[in-house]
Order: sequence, then C-alpha cells, then structure tokens
Amino acid sequence: MSLVHAPVMRDEVIDGLAIRPDGHYVDGTYGRGGHASSILQSLGENGRLIVMDRDPQAIEHAREHMGEDKRVTIIHDDYANMRQRIAALDLLEKIDGVLLDLGVSSPQLDAAERGFSFQQNGPLDMRMDTSRGETAADWLGRADENEIARVLRDFGEERHARRIARRIVETRVSRPIEDTATLAALISACVPRPKNNRHPATRSFQAIRIYVNQELAQLQRFFETVFDIVRIGGRLLLISFHSLEDRLVKRFFKQHSSRPKIPRGLPLRDSEVEAVVRLRLVGRAIRAGTAELALNPRARSAVLRIAERAA
Ligand SMILES: C[S@@+](CC[C@H](N)C(=O)[O-])C[C@H]1O[C@@H](n2cnc3c(N)ncnc32)[C@H](O)[C@@H]1O
Repeated sequence: MSLVHAPVMRDEVIDGLAIRPDGHYVDGTYGRGGHASSILQSLGENGRLIVMDRDPQAIEHAREHMGEDKRVTIIHDDYANMRQRIAALDLLEKIDGVLLDLGVSSPQLDAAERGFSFQQNGPLDMRMDTSRGETAADWLGRADENEIARVLRDFGEERHARRIARRIVETRVSRPIEDTATLAALISACVPRPKNNRHPATRSFQAIRIYVNQELAQLQRFFETVFDIVRIGGRLLLISFHSLEDRLVKRFFKQHSSRPKIPRGLPLRDSEVEAVVRLRLVGRAIRAGTAELALNPRARSAVLRIAERAA
C-alpha cells in the first residue's frame, strides 16, 4: 500500500513548463506535492508558486512541507475557482504556467476510509473535499434509478448501467448502501465479469467518483477562465487519467489552436484570423515511458498535453 504519491511524468512536466526562475506558477492539484516540489527546485528567490487542492489533507501536507517557504502561497479550494484566487493575488494574466494533474491521488485511493476503492472496505464517501458536499452514500440513498443509470453511463461508460441502478434502488429499500464492499458486491452479483478481468465495479466506482466530485464540470469551468489567468507565452499542462477527461482537454486545445474556417470572400487579413487562435500546441500528447511504468503502474493511463497561450 502506498501512502505517498509518485508524481507522474515529473521530468516531462518540468520541461513542459519551461520554468523561468523568477516566474509565477500554479499547481492546481497539489496532491502530495511531487510536482510542486520539483517546480520549487527550479524557481529562484523571486519566483512564486501558488498551490491549490480541494482535499484538506493535501493542504495540510502542503502547509507542513512548504508553509515556511516565502515563495509559496497555499490555497484550499477547487481549481475551478482559480481565476478569483489569482485575481485576489493581483496576478491575472501574469501566470507563466499552470499544471493540473487531474483525478485522485494515491493517498486518496489507498486510504480505505476515503471510500474510493472497492479493494478495501470503507465508508462510501468519495469526496475529495471532505469539508463539504454530498457523499457517495448520501447520493446513492436519494437519487432515482434514472439518475443513477445516467451517471453510470455518462461517467463510467458502463454498459450495464440500467441493471446496476435498478439493483441499487431495490436493495436500498431494505438496507442502505453505505460502504464500498456492499456496493462492490452488489455490482458483482448483477453484471457479468468483464473480459479484461477487471473488477466488475471498476466503471461504476469511477462514474460515481466523477459525479460526486463534479470532475468534468470543474474542468469546464477552469477552461472558461484560463485566458484570464495565463499570460501570453505562458504554458498550460494537463495530465488526464481517463478518456472522458482527455476528450475535454483535446477538444479545448483543438478549439483554440485551430485557425477558424473563414467563408471565401470575407475581407479578413491573416493577422485578424490569427487573433482568434489563442493556443499553440506544444508537441503531441505524452505518455509515461516504460521505466516509469515499471515503478508506477498507475501512470499507465496518464496523458500529458501541453499548450502555450498564443499572442
Ligand atoms: C493526481 S493527484 C495530484 C498529485 C500531485 N501532482 C503530486 O505530485 O503529488 C490529484 C489531486 O488533485 C486534487 N483535485 C482533484 N480535483 C480537484 C479540483 N477540482 N480542485 C482542486 N483540487 C483537485 C485531488 O484532491 C488530488 O489531491
């Protein structure tokens, strides 16, 4: 069991940020500070690092490990609120690089009491921010069958979404579904074992976690404000861990890096067309190399995409 978090593609992230020693950087998903501490090592005395996380335990870790460092500002909040936080620091459009390493951290996954894992029994919580919001158990206790089926389908691409949702609603009449083992057993009992030998509850657990934490909505909200945060020439790095997330990143990058199709005959100069292009893609999608995968199998599904804010 690992209670530390090995930072995914650490070298690629540091190269991708192209760190200026006196620049301003934001790590919106501090976790256990693997990337943040590498960024700090590359920063000089006048550099600045703002770290955010919605998990109170991650923030406690940040305070313990970098609370004394004058270059660091620690913020307990969703990265979707980054714009307001950066505005309060008077740094709008002055940020040289933002990193979002999405999803859950190893300490979150591995701590049974957080309720993310079906491999160990724990209360069905699944909130990254344990200080607020509805737990997975509360939601499964009140949502109707249609809503549960929709979440399992939309966020887990679960083929048996309807069947699982029906079983949940039937079961909770006689006993509430309040721990991970109960939910995992209920799912195993009503769907066939997947061919890839994965646990039959894998997709449902992912879906419920994404829903409880509004993970895709957070990313959308961040994208809506990112051009107010990052300066021209500044970098944006996103590491995603599943296809739904990566699809959003890809779509956002494509939307803002492609030249718009202009109807023929419209009297537009090249510079006017370029003005609509707000991102320049930096290289292709990057995946962890074999050496890293041997040490950290959780990096298997990680995809890093990098873009630069265009002039
Ligand atoms: C994969 S871990 C990051 C690990 C980190 N890069 C490291 O090297 O230790 C993801 C972290 O992002 C946080 N997180 C996920 N969604 C968030 C959000 N919307 N706002 C703020 N933090 C979020 C989680 O609480 C978790 O600590």
